[in-house]
Amino acid sequence: MTILVTGARGNLGSRLVATLAAAGCPVRGSARDATTLRLPAGAEPAELDITDPGPAAADTLRGVEAVFLYPVIGSVDAFLAAAATAGVRYLVLLSSPAAYEAGEFDRPIGLVHRAVERAVAGAGLEHTVLYPSWLATNAQRDWADQIRTTGRVAMAYGDATVTPIHPDDVAQVAADLLTRGTHRARMQILTGPRSLHLRDVVTTVGDVLGVEIPVDDLTRDQALEQAKGRMPRPILETLLDVAAASIGQAAPVNNTVERITGHPARPFRSWVETHRADFERN
Ligand SMILES: NC(=O)c1ccc[n+]([C@@H]2O[C@H](COP(=O)([O-])OP(=O)(O)OC[C@H]3O[C@@H](n4cnc5c(N)ncnc54)[C@H](OP(=O)(O)O)[C@@H]3O)[C@@H](O)[C@H]2O)c1
Repeated sequence: MTILVTGARGNLGSRLVATLAAAGCPVRGSARDATTLRLPAGAEPAELDITDPGPAAADTLRGVEAVFLYPVIGSVDAFLAAAATAGVRYLVLLSSPAAYEAGEFDRPIGLVHRAVERAVAGAGLEHTVLYPSWLATNAQRDWADQIRTTGRVAMAYGDATVTPIHPDDVAQVAADLLTRGTHRARMQILTGPRSLHLRDVVTTVGDVLGVEIPVDDLTRDQALEQAKGRMPRPILETLLDVAAASIGQAAPVNNTVERITGHPARPFRSWVETHRADFERN
């Protein structure tokens, strides 16, 4: 039984390929350009644009029983039709709580995820949609450069709450679903173990590095200005609105990771401990 992992170069996809390969599971990892794709021993590379699969997709899908689908922007209908023709029986779709949360589901991030979900539901394949909470890797994406260069973080809404989830936990849940039938529900909402204020997420990074990382509070307009060019404005505005709306309430926490993988969700600190070099000053 071969498993196809799309987005195999990505943060979550690469961890999923590694998890499956380490378990001895036949795994194929795809990217739009496979020539530069580095996979662990035992994993087979493949080239695939999910939105433009073309005739070569038949080769990529040959012998594949289950697929991890990355939520791309654009139509996935042709890929799903090719998967059904190739005999794929089950699919795990990565999605986002933005697909259902108030203030998000009808805005750009939610709409992209809902479009892919609708296509998957319409394709008639057995599937599970994964909704991970705030990825611990967001800390690296959003703050690593600032911390490395200034030793500080400037952000808006430091009192916003999130439940950081370790990307390895998301990968392990996906691996379990793809290889075992036990938890194949229509959807699985995954969270980390604790709700944290954004400023406490920064404090945790500092604790691991052994330094204090001051947080400089930005106004909404300053945050929009700071992120100019890094993210399309409607997306940033949505993220800021979501952050503002979360202030004063804990972010949701559940035990889905433990129910599926058998171990408690890893704390944010454990992710920082293995990525401290990303935040250290040169
Ligand atoms: N950030 C959060 O807190 C959060 C929370 C919940 C859910 N999520 C979801 O998680 C996603 C981020 O996952 P990640 O960190 O693993 O992303 P990532 O590291 O940015 O990887 C994205 C992957 O998508 C692939 N991809 C994009 N368009 C493609 C296409 N047309 N055909 C084939 N592959 C394509 C890329 O493949 P190539 O190698 O071909 O470029 C890349 O491997 C978000 O977009 C969101 O959907 C995020």
